[in-house]
Amino acid sequence: MTTTPSATAAAPSALPAEQPVDPALWWRQAVVYQVYPRSFADADGDGTGDLAGVTSRVPHLERLGVDAVWLSPFYPSALADGGYDVDDYRDVDPRLGTLEDFDRMVAALHAAGIRLIVDIVPNHSSDRHAWFRAALAAGPGSPERERYVFRRGLGADGAQPPTDWLSIFGGPSWEPVGDGDWYLHNFAPEQPDWNWDHPDVRADFRRTLRFWADRGVDGFRIDVAHFLTKDLTGVLPTQAELEATQDLTDGAHPFNDRDDVHDVYREWRAVFDEYDPPRMAVAEAWVPAHRRPAYASAEGLGQAFNFDLLVAEFDAAAFRRVVEENLLLAADAGSSSTWVLSNHDVVRHASRYGLPAGTPRIPWLLSQGTDPAPDLVRGVRRARAATAFVLALPGSTYVYQGEELGLPEVADLPDAVLQDPTWLRSRGADKGRDGCRVPLPWTRDGDSLGFGPEGGRPAHLPQPASFAELAVDVQEADPASTLAFYREALARRAGLQTVEELEFLDAPEGVVAFRRPGGWVCVTNFTTAPVPLPAGRVVLSSSGRPPGEGLTDVPAETTVWLTPVEPADAVATGAGGATGR
Ligand code: NOJ
Repeated sequence: MTTTPSATAAAPSALPAEQPVDPALWWRQAVVYQVYPRSFADADGDGTGDLAGVTSRVPHLERLGVDAVWLSPFYPSALADGGYDVDDYRDVDPRLGTLEDFDRMVAALHAAGIRLIVDIVPNHSSDRHAWFRAALAAGPGSPERERYVFRRGLGADGAQPPTDWLSIFGGPSWEPVGDGDWYLHNFAPEQPDWNWDHPDVRADFRRTLRFWADRGVDGFRIDVAHFLTKDLTGVLPTQAELEATQDLTDGAHPFNDRDDVHDVYREWRAVFDEYDPPRMAVAEAWVPAHRRPAYASAEGLGQAFNFDLLVAEFDAAAFRRVVEENLLLAADAGSSSTWVLSNHDVVRHASRYGLPAGTPRIPWLLSQGTDPAPDLVRGVRRARAATAFVLALPGSTYVYQGEELGLPEVADLPDAVLQDPTWLRSRGADKGRDGCRVPLPWTRDGDSLGFGPEGGRPAHLPQPASFAELAVDVQEADPASTLAFYREALARRAGLQTVEELEFLDAPEGVVAFRRPGGWVCVTNFTTAPVPLPAGRVVLSSSGRPPGEGLTDVPAETTVWLTPVEPADAVATGAGGATGR
């Protein structure tokens, strides 16, 4: 193996090897575990996960070795969109606990050395938010309506919507309120969009950020960070014109990725920097790649999700392209990249990778996950390889709850239990995202597989029988399990972590290999045949074979990590390497 030129330069604030991490920069190369709280652990037995449940499972997170938890919304909500419809940004949903439960959870996480990132949903509130209720009560033309995006309907009686725009969850973007006014909702009708031109809205969100930062929160995940600001002055385009003529790259779209959204994040940066260490933030911004650095800049949110691996096939060229592009983009922003294989919005990657390349999501889910049937053994094998690949990259890895168990998508949930607005609003044309939100199995036996206490109410989404053998207690007893692999990988990663640089190595077709400073080499074989193992000491193999047990090649669809061979090891391991490095 020969080396190619370094793909990236060190970011200005890269972490020196074997130096303690600057507390202000802990997030740059963190492993962040996403908790979707209603489906994580149910301490009070009402069938819905809660904050006391998170606290009770901190030992699992500590044993896993994560640096931080990102907690999806836990605020009071009618659950029109899984909690992303917030009634009150500075409280806890009573079904999930109290502010005191929140404080106990923060204390338990911090005692375990785990930081906490909470979800902030600034594009829209719920229609039960006090200010939206006040806006409805106050009537057309009132100052209360100014905080949201109300417009008069068209036609003499205002019976027609202001535009024919379509919402992201399906159906119109405007909802009439019965007095000639309509309000804009880019998502569900229960999620009215805020008016970010209004000083009250800006001040209230700054207050929310301080409220949680004062309670010990270490950072924020910003929902739909590319919406918020709007310019709906002048003649508004039709939906067809929006799609055909609006340039999504010039920052002047009526509501999507506008340049002026960064004024909001500059204000927020001032709030984050009031704290020591400064609070971090990560943007959920579905924008063209070249627009991402603005969200990740140090004057703005500081980091932005890169979702490219959520849509990439398990393919060497595709993965390498994503890495090259995103390391450059992150360096451009002075930030670190993020790597995401799954989250609460997409089909779990253990299932994705078990399907033929190009399988479209919607028809597959509508077939209850049977057409085609995924090869889950293969899916988990590839998922583990992809995980070891991303964990070796410079930057942060975001792990979605349950992926450490190799959980598949539950594609055959009965229609009657589905909760996702994409299912309801599309009238069954899109099955939605509930299949990745099924509560976790903690024990092989027991009601709701240990998600809730014995005698409690059933889990709010039914767990399939197949989850029993994937439960945490089953996998803890098996050194070859996916859970054991994740624990091993995270522990190894912590010991190998180094400056934010990477150098690609020459590799056979279908293989991606790179080296990090200090000699940590990652080789991923995306092909279905073994490839020769390069020189070095194998310290991790995603195929589960314990290192040092006579591995002579990189098995099919497997990632191995190697470190340099110490002189004393050379004879024992026959170092030299089949690829002749
Ligand atoms: C992105 C969140 O991840 C998703 O779950 C939610 O439905 C939308 N934003 C709307 O808030």
